[in-house]
Amino acid sequence: MPKIGSIELPEFPLLLAPMEDVSDPPFRTLCKEQGADVMYTEFISSEGLIRDAAKSVIKLDIYEKERPVGIQIFGAELDSMLQAIDIVTETNPDIIDINFGCPVKKVVCKNAGAGILRDIPLMVKLTEAMVKRTHLPVTVKTRLGWDSDSIKIVEVAERLQDVGIQAISIHGRTRVQMYKGQADWKPIAQVKNNPRMHIPVFGNGDVDTPEAAMRMRDDYGLDGAMIGRASIGYPWFFKEVKHFFKTGTHLPPPTMEQRVTAARRHLQMSIDWKGETLGVLETRRHYSNYFKGIPNFKPYRMKMVTSDDASDVFEAFDEAMEAFAGHVFA
Ligand SMILES: Cc1cc2nc3c(=O)[nH]c(=O)nc-3n(C[C@H](O)[C@H](O)[C@H](O)COP(=O)(O)O)c2cc1C
Repeated sequence: MPKIGSIELPEFPLLLAPMEDVSDPPFRTLCKEQGADVMYTEFISSEGLIRDAAKSVIKLDIYEKERPVGIQIFGAELDSMLQAIDIVTETNPDIIDINFGCPVKKVVCKNAGAGILRDIPLMVKLTEAMVKRTHLPVTVKTRLGWDSDSIKIVEVAERLQDVGIQAISIHGRTRVQMYKGQADWKPIAQVKNNPRMHIPVFGNGDVDTPEAAMRMRDDYGLDGAMIGRASIGYPWFFKEVKHFFKTGTHLPPPTMEQRVTAARRHLQMSIDWKGETLGVLETRRHYSNYFKGIPNFKPYRMKMVTSDDASDVFEAFDEAMEAFAGHVFA
């Protein structure tokens, strides 16, 4: 069974990917209930943490019930990363994850996120210093390389392991690809097949069906799957994958009632956690998936995603429930 430090995980664990404005405590709660084995927070700026910026600090919140949970930080400047590690260590997550994969320009141009893939010695140096700074297990999330001509992930993963990381999650795209094309899991399998690797190697990118998760396990031999977009507005994905592994059959999709209940709880938890304005705003992106595939749903969805008032959104849930109770999802 794979282990991250001393954290024991089930066979082929499913990890919730860090996703900005998505992988917050309310959403992580729903994913945990549906079987996600490891949670990651959305990325947190190390500079923001040091400045005590409220937007960064609130992201450190974790609920006891969601453990094991990893807090993900990004940055490129050694001193601020180390200070950020101290702040994160104090909040006592189970894992600290370093983001070496974010492709966004404003992050990359400061050499943070995937930007550091252009300077592997710096990546190794920063990682080593961070591992030494904390007693918590440190993991890394990264991409295959900067571009298709510079894929050195086998060497990179080994070097990061050698300076003490306890697991690596690899998104099967380069920085230049952003989110285009299909994720390539072959180089991730090469990392896993390196006889010197002994830490878990988790695959990421385009695990969007139970069959895809099974291929990642059986054909690519990876230690677990990190799941991002397939879970947005669809926390049931984790349970569906596990059911498929166990039985080879598909669970029926969640009913309308289950979807409305989840959306309601999601919104309520978000409001409780970050207040009505942000709670309403940031839960919006989940609704189209919660209610995907319902014909003539547009007026209800429009009300959900345009109302600023929580009571209007709750009302839209009730109206949708009434109109589509018993709807059979494909
Ligand atoms: C909305 C969104 C926000 C993301 N934010 C982060 C982040 O904060 N940190 C990170 O390492 N990756 C982030 N990612 C990348 C995902 O963790 C993941 O690597 C990527 O979506 C590919 O996996 P998937 O095909 O399962 O979605 C984000 C992706 C999305 C779609």
